[in-house]
Amino acid sequence: MNNIFEKITSLAKRRGFIYPGSEIYGGLAGTWDYGPLGVELKRNIKEQFWNTMVYARDDVVGVDAAILMNPKVWEASGHLKAFSDPLVECKSCHKRFRLDEIGLEAKGCPECSGEFTKPKAFNLMMETHLGAVEGEKQKTYLRGEITQGAHVNFKNILASNRVKIPFGVAQIGKAFRNEITPGNFTFRSREFEQMELQFYIKPDKKEAERQMKYWKEERLKWYVSLGISKKNLRFREHESEERAHYAREAWDVEYQVSDQEWKELEGIHNRGDWDLRRHSEFSGEDLSYFDEEANERYIPWVIETSGGVDRAVIFFLMDAYEEEKLKGNDERIILKLHPKLAPYKVAVFPLLANKPELVKLARKIYEDLRKEFTAVWDDRGNIGKRYYSQDEIGTPYCITVDFDSLEKKDVTVRDRDSMKQKRIEISKLGSYLHGKIL
Ligand code: GAP
Repeated sequence: MNNIFEKITSLAKRRGFIYPGSEIYGGLAGTWDYGPLGVELKRNIKEQFWNTMVYARDDVVGVDAAILMNPKVWEASGHLKAFSDPLVECKSCHKRFRLDEIGLEAKGCPECSGEFTKPKAFNLMMETHLGAVEGEKQKTYLRGEITQGAHVNFKNILASNRVKIPFGVAQIGKAFRNEITPGNFTFRSREFEQMELQFYIKPDKKEAERQMKYWKEERLKWYVSLGISKKNLRFREHESEERAHYAREAWDVEYQVSDQEWKELEGIHNRGDWDLRRHSEFSGEDLSYFDEEANERYIPWVIETSGGVDRAVIFFLMDAYEEEKLKGNDERIILKLHPKLAPYKVAVFPLLANKPELVKLARKIYEDLRKEFTAVWDDRGNIGKRYYSQDEIGTPYCITVDFDSLEKKDVTVRDRDSMKQKRIEISKLGSYLHGKIL
Protein backbone atom coordinates (compact mmCIF):
# COMPACT_ATOMS: atom_id res chain seq x y z
CA MET A 1 0.00 0.00 0.00
CA ASN A 2 1.81 3.11 -1.17
CA ASN A 3 -0.93 5.65 -1.34
CA ILE A 4 -0.89 7.69 1.85
CA PHE A 5 -4.67 8.17 1.66
CA GLU A 6 -5.09 4.37 1.67
CA LYS A 7 -2.71 3.96 4.59
CA ILE A 8 -4.48 6.58 6.67
CA THR A 9 -7.92 5.20 5.75
CA SER A 10 -6.86 1.72 6.79
CA LEU A 11 -5.23 2.82 10.06
CA ALA A 12 -8.22 5.03 10.83
CA LYS A 13 -10.62 2.13 10.47
CA ARG A 14 -8.43 -0.49 12.18
CA ARG A 15 -7.80 1.63 15.26
CA GLY A 16 -11.18 3.33 15.55
CA PHE A 17 -10.57 6.83 14.24
CA ILE A 18 -12.98 6.92 11.30
CA TYR A 19 -15.41 4.38 9.82
CA PRO A 20 -17.40 4.54 6.56
CA GLY A 21 -20.89 5.92 7.34
CA SER A 22 -23.75 3.37 7.70
CA GLU A 23 -21.32 0.60 6.75
CA ILE A 24 -23.54 -2.39 7.66
CA TYR A 25 -26.05 -1.16 5.05
CA GLY A 26 -23.41 -0.87 2.36
CA GLY A 27 -22.49 2.70 3.32
CA LEU A 28 -23.72 6.06 2.07
CA ALA A 29 -21.36 7.81 -0.33
CA GLY A 30 -19.63 10.83 1.13
CA THR A 31 -20.50 10.16 4.79
CA TRP A 32 -18.16 9.07 7.57
CA ASP A 33 -18.49 8.27 11.27
CA TYR A 34 -15.84 9.16 13.84
CA GLY A 35 -14.97 6.33 16.21
CA PRO A 36 -13.71 6.50 19.81
CA LEU A 37 -10.24 7.80 18.88
CA GLY A 38 -11.37 9.98 15.99
CA VAL A 39 -13.86 11.85 18.10
CA GLU A 40 -11.07 12.72 20.57
CA LEU A 41 -8.71 13.91 17.83
CA LYS A 42 -11.45 15.98 16.22
CA ARG A 43 -12.53 17.51 19.54
CA ASN A 44 -8.90 18.39 20.30
CA ILE A 45 -8.48 20.13 16.94
CA LYS A 46 -11.65 22.15 17.50
CA GLU A 47 -10.63 23.02 21.04
CA GLN A 48 -7.25 24.28 19.84
CA PHE A 49 -8.96 26.34 17.16
CA TRP A 50 -11.27 27.91 19.73
CA ASN A 51 -8.40 28.52 22.21
CA THR A 52 -6.35 30.36 19.59
CA MET A 53 -9.08 32.17 17.70
CA VAL A 54 -11.44 33.13 20.55
CA TYR A 55 -10.02 32.72 24.07
CA ALA A 56 -6.57 34.12 23.31
CA ARG A 57 -7.97 37.28 21.66
CA ASP A 58 -9.90 40.38 22.69
CA ASP A 59 -11.28 41.02 19.23
CA VAL A 60 -13.12 37.76 18.45
CA VAL A 61 -16.40 36.37 19.83
CA GLY A 62 -18.09 33.07 19.03
CA VAL A 63 -21.47 31.96 17.68
CA ASP A 64 -23.16 28.62 17.14
CA ALA A 65 -25.90 29.23 14.59
CA ALA A 66 -28.61 26.84 13.38
CA ILE A 67 -27.91 24.54 10.45
CA LEU A 68 -31.39 25.26 9.09
CA MET A 69 -31.89 28.84 7.98
CA ASN A 70 -34.60 30.81 6.26
CA PRO A 71 -34.21 29.93 2.55
CA LYS A 72 -33.95 33.64 1.73
CA VAL A 73 -30.51 33.56 3.38
CA TRP A 74 -29.29 31.38 0.50
CA GLU A 75 -30.84 33.61 -2.13
CA ALA A 76 -29.12 36.60 -0.57
CA SER A 77 -25.78 34.82 -0.14
CA GLY A 78 -25.83 33.86 -3.81
CA HIS A 79 -25.59 30.16 -3.10
CA LEU A 80 -28.80 29.22 -4.90
CA LYS A 81 -27.56 30.81 -8.11
CA ALA A 82 -23.82 30.52 -8.03
CA PHE A 83 -22.81 27.72 -5.67
CA SER A 84 -22.19 25.06 -8.24
CA ASP A 85 -19.53 22.90 -9.79
CA PRO A 86 -19.30 22.34 -13.56
CA LEU A 87 -20.42 18.79 -14.25
CA VAL A 88 -20.11 16.58 -17.33
CA GLU A 89 -21.98 13.34 -17.88
CA CYS A 90 -20.85 10.34 -19.91
CA LYS A 91 -23.40 9.82 -22.71
CA SER A 92 -22.87 6.10 -22.62
CA CYS A 93 -22.66 5.04 -18.92
CA HIS A 94 -24.23 8.23 -17.48
CA LYS A 95 -21.55 8.61 -14.82
CA ARG A 96 -20.97 12.19 -13.72
CA PHE A 97 -17.64 13.95 -13.24
CA ARG A 98 -16.42 17.35 -12.05
CA LEU A 99 -15.01 19.19 -15.03
CA ASP A 100 -12.24 20.73 -12.91
CA GLU A 101 -11.09 17.24 -11.90
CA ILE A 102 -11.29 15.57 -15.27
CA GLY A 103 -9.76 18.49 -17.19
CA LEU A 104 -11.12 20.71 -19.95
CA GLU A 105 -9.40 18.71 -22.64
CA ALA A 106 -10.98 15.37 -21.64
CA LYS A 107 -13.17 14.05 -24.43
CA GLY A 108 -13.90 10.43 -23.52
CA CYS A 109 -15.14 9.00 -20.26
CA PRO A 110 -12.18 7.29 -18.48
CA GLU A 111 -14.21 4.24 -17.56
CA CYS A 112 -16.09 3.35 -20.77
CA SER A 113 -14.63 5.82 -23.30
CA GLY A 114 -18.11 7.19 -23.97
CA GLU A 115 -18.43 10.85 -24.97
CA PHE A 116 -19.18 13.62 -22.50
CA THR A 117 -22.13 15.96 -22.53
CA LYS A 118 -21.45 19.71 -22.54
CA PRO A 119 -20.62 20.96 -19.02
CA LYS A 120 -23.51 22.19 -16.95
CA ALA A 121 -23.62 23.84 -13.54
CA PHE A 122 -24.62 21.50 -10.73
CA ASN A 123 -25.85 23.21 -7.57
CA LEU A 124 -24.30 21.88 -4.37
CA MET A 125 -26.98 22.99 -1.88
CA MET A 126 -28.84 20.13 -0.15
CA GLU A 127 -32.58 20.54 -0.05
CA THR A 128 -34.74 19.58 2.87
CA HIS A 129 -38.39 20.13 3.80
CA LEU A 130 -39.82 21.45 7.06
CA GLY A 131 -43.26 20.69 8.47
CA ALA A 132 -45.52 17.67 8.71
CA VAL A 133 -48.26 18.27 6.13
CA GLU A 134 -47.56 17.24 2.52
CA GLY A 135 -48.11 20.16 0.19
CA GLU A 136 -47.55 22.69 2.96
CA LYS A 137 -43.98 21.72 3.63
CA GLN A 138 -41.47 24.53 3.40
CA LYS A 139 -38.44 23.88 1.26
CA THR A 140 -35.15 24.95 2.76
CA TYR A 141 -31.52 23.85 2.70
CA LEU A 142 -28.91 22.32 4.93
CA ARG A 143 -26.30 25.06 5.10
CA GLY A 144 -23.63 24.86 2.42
CA GLU A 145 -21.20 26.94 4.51
CA ILE A 146 -21.40 27.88 8.19
CA THR A 147 -20.49 31.47 7.31
CA GLN A 148 -23.99 32.89 6.93
CA GLY A 149 -24.81 32.11 10.57
CA ALA A 150 -22.32 34.83 11.56
CA HIS A 151 -23.50 37.42 9.01
CA VAL A 152 -27.22 37.13 9.73
CA ASN A 153 -26.39 37.78 13.40
CA PHE A 154 -24.15 40.79 12.74
CA LYS A 155 -26.76 43.23 14.09
CA ASN A 156 -27.55 41.07 17.13
CA ILE A 157 -23.88 40.74 17.98
CA LEU A 158 -23.28 44.48 17.67
CA ALA A 159 -26.27 45.23 19.89
CA SER A 160 -25.46 42.69 22.59
CA ASN A 161 -21.66 42.86 22.85
CA ARG A 162 -19.04 45.55 23.24
CA VAL A 163 -17.35 44.92 19.92
CA LYS A 164 -15.78 47.50 17.66
CA ILE A 165 -14.46 47.13 14.16
CA PRO A 166 -12.10 45.45 13.51
CA PHE A 167 -13.56 42.40 15.23
CA GLY A 168 -14.36 38.83 14.32
CA VAL A 169 -16.95 36.12 14.82
CA ALA A 170 -15.71 32.54 15.05
CA GLN A 171 -17.80 29.44 14.54
CA ILE A 172 -17.40 25.68 14.23
CA GLY A 173 -20.12 23.48 12.81
CA LYS A 174 -21.46 21.15 10.18
CA ALA A 175 -21.94 22.07 6.54
CA PHE A 176 -23.48 20.00 3.74
CA ARG A 177 -22.76 19.84 0.03
CA ASN A 178 -24.21 17.61 -2.62
CA GLU A 179 -20.73 16.83 -3.97
CA ILE A 180 -20.71 15.21 -7.40
CA THR A 181 -17.69 13.05 -6.67
CA PRO A 182 -17.13 12.54 -2.95
CA GLY A 183 -13.89 10.72 -2.28
CA ASN A 184 -10.32 10.53 -1.07
CA PHE A 185 -11.48 9.36 2.35
CA THR A 186 -13.16 12.27 4.18
CA PHE A 187 -11.43 14.86 1.97
CA ARG A 188 -14.55 15.50 -0.09
CA SER A 189 -17.57 14.49 1.97
CA ARG A 190 -21.22 15.45 1.69
CA GLU A 191 -21.47 16.22 5.39
CA PHE A 192 -18.44 17.81 7.01
CA GLU A 193 -17.38 20.31 9.62
CA GLN A 194 -15.92 23.76 9.17
CA MET A 195 -14.06 26.05 11.59
CA GLU A 196 -14.28 29.66 10.54
CA LEU A 197 -13.58 33.25 11.38
CA GLN A 198 -15.52 36.12 9.81
CA PHE A 199 -13.44 39.22 10.55
CA TYR A 200 -15.20 42.56 9.99
CA ILE A 201 -13.00 45.44 8.86
CA LYS A 202 -13.22 48.97 7.44
CA PRO A 203 -14.07 48.99 3.73
CA ASP A 204 -10.62 49.95 2.62
CA LYS A 205 -8.28 48.24 0.15
CA LYS A 206 -5.10 48.83 2.17
CA GLU A 207 -6.76 47.57 5.36
CA ALA A 208 -8.03 44.48 3.52
CA GLU A 209 -4.51 43.77 2.21
CA ARG A 210 -3.07 44.14 5.72
CA GLN A 211 -5.68 41.87 7.29
CA MET A 212 -5.37 39.23 4.56
CA LYS A 213 -1.61 39.10 5.15
CA TYR A 214 -2.08 38.95 8.91
CA TRP A 215 -4.68 36.16 8.87
CA LYS A 216 -2.77 34.07 6.32
CA GLU A 217 0.25 34.13 8.63
CA GLU A 218 -1.86 33.41 11.73
CA ARG A 219 -3.51 30.39 10.20
CA LEU A 220 -0.25 28.95 8.90
CA LYS A 221 1.31 29.48 12.34
CA TRP A 222 -1.59 27.60 13.95
CA TYR A 223 -1.10 24.47 11.84
CA VAL A 224 2.67 24.56 12.40
CA SER A 225 2.28 25.11 16.16
CA LEU A 226 0.25 21.89 16.29
CA GLY A 227 2.88 19.86 14.55
CA ILE A 228 2.38 20.05 10.76
CA SER A 229 5.79 20.43 9.07
CA LYS A 230 6.10 23.85 7.51
CA LYS A 231 7.60 22.37 4.36
CA ASN A 232 4.34 20.50 3.76
CA LEU A 233 2.24 23.66 3.73
CA ARG A 234 1.98 26.39 1.11
CA PHE A 235 -0.37 29.14 -0.06
CA ARG A 236 -1.93 29.10 -3.51
CA GLU A 237 -3.86 32.04 -4.90
CA HIS A 238 -7.06 31.36 -6.82
CA GLU A 239 -7.25 32.48 -10.43
CA SER A 240 -10.16 34.86 -11.04
CA GLU A 241 -12.30 32.21 -12.78
CA GLU A 242 -11.74 29.79 -9.89
CA ARG A 243 -12.81 32.21 -7.16
CA ALA A 244 -16.13 31.70 -5.35
CA HIS A 245 -18.84 34.22 -6.23
CA TYR A 246 -18.37 36.10 -2.93
CA ALA A 247 -14.57 36.43 -3.05
CA ARG A 248 -12.52 39.39 -4.24
CA GLU A 249 -9.32 37.60 -3.37
CA ALA A 250 -8.87 33.96 -2.36
CA TRP A 251 -5.94 31.90 -1.13
CA ASP A 252 -5.84 28.24 -0.17
CA VAL A 253 -3.62 26.81 2.52
CA GLU A 254 -2.54 23.60 0.83
CA TYR A 255 -0.99 20.43 2.21
CA GLN A 256 1.55 18.36 0.28
CA VAL A 257 0.13 14.87 -0.04
CA SER A 258 2.87 13.50 -2.33
CA ASP A 259 5.72 14.75 -4.53
CA GLN A 260 3.23 15.67 -7.21
CA GLU A 261 0.14 16.61 -5.29
CA TRP A 262 -0.98 19.45 -3.01
CA LYS A 263 -4.51 19.56 -1.60
CA GLU A 264 -6.66 22.31 -0.11
CA LEU A 265 -6.84 22.44 3.67
CA GLU A 266 -8.26 25.90 4.34
CA GLY A 267 -9.51 28.89 2.36
CA ILE A 268 -8.70 32.51 3.23
CA HIS A 269 -10.90 35.00 1.45
CA ASN A 270 -11.54 38.70 1.14
CA ARG A 271 -15.36 38.65 0.86
CA GLY A 272 -15.59 42.45 0.62
CA ASP A 273 -19.04 43.79 1.54
CA TRP A 274 -20.78 40.93 -0.32
CA ASP A 275 -22.52 39.29 2.65
CA LEU A 276 -23.67 42.28 4.69
CA ARG A 277 -24.68 44.27 1.62
CA ARG A 278 -26.74 41.40 0.19
CA HIS A 279 -28.38 40.59 3.53
CA SER A 280 -29.24 44.30 3.96
CA GLU A 281 -30.86 44.29 0.52
CA PHE A 282 -32.75 41.00 0.90
CA SER A 283 -33.87 41.35 4.53
CA GLY A 284 -34.55 45.06 4.52
CA GLU A 285 -32.51 45.40 7.76
CA ASP A 286 -29.80 48.02 7.82
CA LEU A 287 -26.57 46.08 8.44
CA SER A 288 -24.27 49.08 8.23
CA TYR A 289 -21.94 50.02 11.06
CA PHE A 290 -21.36 53.42 12.62
CA ASP A 291 -17.67 53.97 13.23
CA GLU A 292 -17.49 56.46 16.11
CA GLU A 293 -13.80 57.18 15.76
CA ALA A 294 -14.00 57.93 12.05
CA ASN A 295 -17.50 59.44 12.47
CA GLU A 296 -18.76 57.59 9.43
CA ARG A 297 -21.24 54.86 8.57
CA TYR A 298 -20.31 52.02 6.27
CA ILE A 299 -20.95 48.39 5.35
CA PRO A 300 -17.93 46.52 6.70
CA TRP A 301 -15.82 44.20 4.60
CA VAL A 302 -15.10 40.67 5.69
CA ILE A 303 -11.85 38.73 5.77
CA GLU A 304 -12.63 35.07 6.22
CA THR A 305 -10.57 32.09 7.31
CA SER A 306 -12.44 28.85 6.56
CA GLY A 307 -10.88 25.52 7.48
CA GLY A 308 -12.26 22.02 7.16
CA VAL A 309 -12.13 20.13 10.46
CA ASP A 310 -12.24 16.77 8.68
CA ARG A 311 -9.46 17.81 6.32
CA ALA A 312 -7.43 18.97 9.32
CA VAL A 313 -7.96 15.51 10.85
CA ILE A 314 -6.66 13.84 7.66
CA PHE A 315 -3.64 16.08 7.25
CA PHE A 316 -2.67 16.03 10.95
CA LEU A 317 -2.82 12.21 10.71
CA MET A 318 -0.84 12.14 7.45
CA ASP A 319 1.84 14.45 8.73
CA ALA A 320 2.19 12.46 11.93
CA TYR A 321 2.29 9.05 10.20
CA GLU A 322 5.65 7.27 10.05
CA GLU A 323 6.78 3.74 9.37
CA GLU A 324 9.96 3.38 11.36
CA LYS A 325 12.59 0.67 10.92
CA LEU A 326 13.96 -0.47 14.27
CA LYS A 327 16.95 -2.61 15.22
CA GLY A 328 16.81 -6.17 13.86
CA ASN A 329 13.80 -6.74 11.64
CA ASP A 330 11.41 -4.81 13.81
CA GLU A 331 9.39 -1.92 12.57
CA ARG A 332 6.67 0.17 14.05
CA ILE A 333 3.92 2.44 12.79
CA ILE A 334 3.90 5.63 14.74
CA LEU A 335 1.64 8.66 14.79
CA LYS A 336 3.79 11.56 15.94
CA LEU A 337 0.75 13.64 16.82
CA HIS A 338 1.28 16.80 18.85
CA PRO A 339 0.48 15.91 22.49
CA LYS A 340 -2.31 18.51 22.48
CA LEU A 341 -4.00 16.61 19.64
CA ALA A 342 -3.28 13.03 20.68
CA PRO A 343 -6.50 11.16 21.60
CA TYR A 344 -4.87 9.73 24.74
CA LYS A 345 -2.12 11.67 26.46
CA VAL A 346 -0.94 8.79 28.57
CA ALA A 347 -1.28 5.00 28.82
CA VAL A 348 -0.80 3.16 32.11
CA PHE A 349 0.31 -0.48 32.38
CA PRO A 350 1.03 -2.87 35.21
CA LEU A 351 4.14 -4.84 34.14
CA LEU A 352 2.24 -8.09 34.77
CA ALA A 353 -1.53 -8.39 34.74
CA ASN A 354 -1.55 -11.31 37.19
CA LYS A 355 0.24 -9.57 40.06
CA PRO A 356 -2.44 -7.88 42.18
CA GLU A 357 0.00 -5.55 43.94
CA LEU A 358 1.22 -4.14 40.59
CA VAL A 359 -2.32 -3.87 39.23
CA LYS A 360 -3.49 -2.07 42.38
CA LEU A 361 -0.74 0.57 42.26
CA ALA A 362 -1.07 1.03 38.47
CA ARG A 363 -4.84 1.38 38.80
CA LYS A 364 -4.38 4.08 41.48
CA ILE A 365 -1.96 6.02 39.22
CA TYR A 366 -4.34 5.64 36.28
CA GLU A 367 -7.32 6.91 38.29
CA ASP A 368 -5.31 9.93 39.50
CA LEU A 369 -3.97 10.84 36.06
CA ARG A 370 -7.30 10.57 34.28
CA LYS A 371 -8.67 13.41 36.40
CA GLU A 372 -6.36 15.66 34.38
CA PHE A 373 -5.49 13.88 31.16
CA THR A 374 -7.26 11.55 28.76
CA ALA A 375 -5.67 8.26 29.82
CA VAL A 376 -5.99 4.63 28.74
CA TRP A 377 -5.40 1.37 30.60
CA ASP A 378 -3.78 -1.66 29.01
CA ASP A 379 -2.78 -4.92 30.65
CA ARG A 380 -2.93 -7.25 27.63
CA GLY A 381 0.04 -9.08 26.09
CA ASN A 382 3.61 -8.01 26.74
CA ILE A 383 4.96 -4.51 27.34
CA GLY A 384 6.56 -4.28 23.88
CA LYS A 385 3.24 -4.97 22.15
CA ARG A 386 1.48 -2.45 24.37
CA TYR A 387 4.04 0.23 23.45
CA TYR A 388 3.60 -0.43 19.71
CA SER A 389 -0.13 -0.40 20.04
CA GLN A 390 0.02 3.03 21.70
CA ASP A 391 2.59 4.33 19.16
CA GLU A 392 0.16 3.56 16.38
CA ILE A 393 -2.54 5.77 17.88
CA GLY A 394 -0.15 8.54 18.88
CA THR A 395 -0.14 8.24 22.70
CA PRO A 396 2.88 10.39 23.68
CA TYR A 397 3.65 8.75 27.05
CA CYS A 398 3.37 5.23 28.47
CA ILE A 399 3.78 4.51 32.17
CA THR A 400 4.77 1.09 33.45
CA VAL A 401 4.41 0.05 37.06
CA ASP A 402 6.94 -2.68 37.94
CA PHE A 403 8.25 -4.34 41.09
CA ASP A 404 10.69 -1.48 41.79
CA SER A 405 7.71 0.88 41.79
CA LEU A 406 6.37 -0.83 44.91
CA GLU A 407 9.52 -0.06 46.88
CA LYS A 408 10.93 3.06 45.31
CA LYS A 409 7.60 4.77 44.58
CA ASP A 410 8.57 5.55 41.02
CA VAL A 411 7.56 4.36 37.54
CA THR A 412 8.98 4.09 34.03
CA VAL A 413 7.81 6.80 31.65
CA ARG A 414 8.43 5.92 28.02
CA ASP A 415 8.52 8.62 25.35
CA ARG A 416 6.71 7.72 22.11
CA ASP A 417 9.07 9.44 19.65
CA SER A 418 12.51 8.73 21.15
CA MET A 419 11.41 5.46 22.83
CA LYS A 420 13.62 6.56 25.74
CA GLN A 421 12.58 5.54 29.24
CA LYS A 422 12.96 7.50 32.43
CA ARG A 423 12.18 6.78 36.09
CA ILE A 424 9.88 9.43 37.57
CA GLU A 425 8.64 9.62 41.16
CA ILE A 426 4.95 8.82 41.35
CA SER A 427 4.27 11.99 43.36
CA LYS A 428 5.80 14.07 40.52
CA LEU A 429 4.09 12.34 37.58
CA GLY A 430 1.28 14.87 37.25
CA SER A 431 3.54 17.90 37.05
CA TYR A 432 6.02 16.07 34.79
CA LEU A 433 3.28 15.25 32.27
CA HIS A 434 1.74 18.70 32.61
CA GLY A 435 4.96 20.29 31.44
CA LYS A 436 5.18 17.95 28.46
CA ILE A 437 1.57 17.87 27.30
CA LEU A 438 -0.49 20.91 28.15
N1 GAP B 1 -17.11 29.94 3.92
C1 GAP B 1 -16.19 29.73 2.91
C2 GAP B 1 -16.14 28.35 2.45
O1 GAP B 1 -17.00 27.55 2.79
P1 GAP B 1 -14.76 26.71 0.96
O2 GAP B 1 -13.39 26.89 0.36
O3 GAP B 1 -15.87 26.27 0.07
O4 GAP B 1 -15.08 28.10 1.66
C3 GAP B 1 -13.80 25.93 3.23
O5 GAP B 1 -14.67 25.69 2.16
C4 GAP B 1 -13.14 24.66 3.70
O6 GAP B 1 -14.11 23.67 4.01
C5 GAP B 1 -12.24 24.00 2.65
O7 GAP B 1 -10.96 24.59 2.63
C6 GAP B 1 -12.21 22.57 3.14
O8 GAP B 1 -11.25 22.42 4.17
C7 GAP B 1 -13.60 22.39 3.74
N2 GAP B 1 -14.46 21.70 2.77
C8 GAP B 1 -15.12 22.23 1.73
N3 GAP B 1 -15.82 21.30 1.07
C9 GAP B 1 -15.60 20.12 1.72
C10 GAP B 1 -16.03 18.77 1.54
N4 GAP B 1 -16.89 18.45 0.56
N5 GAP B 1 -15.61 17.83 2.40
C11 GAP B 1 -14.76 18.13 3.41
N6 GAP B 1 -14.32 19.38 3.63
C12 GAP B 1 -14.72 20.37 2.81
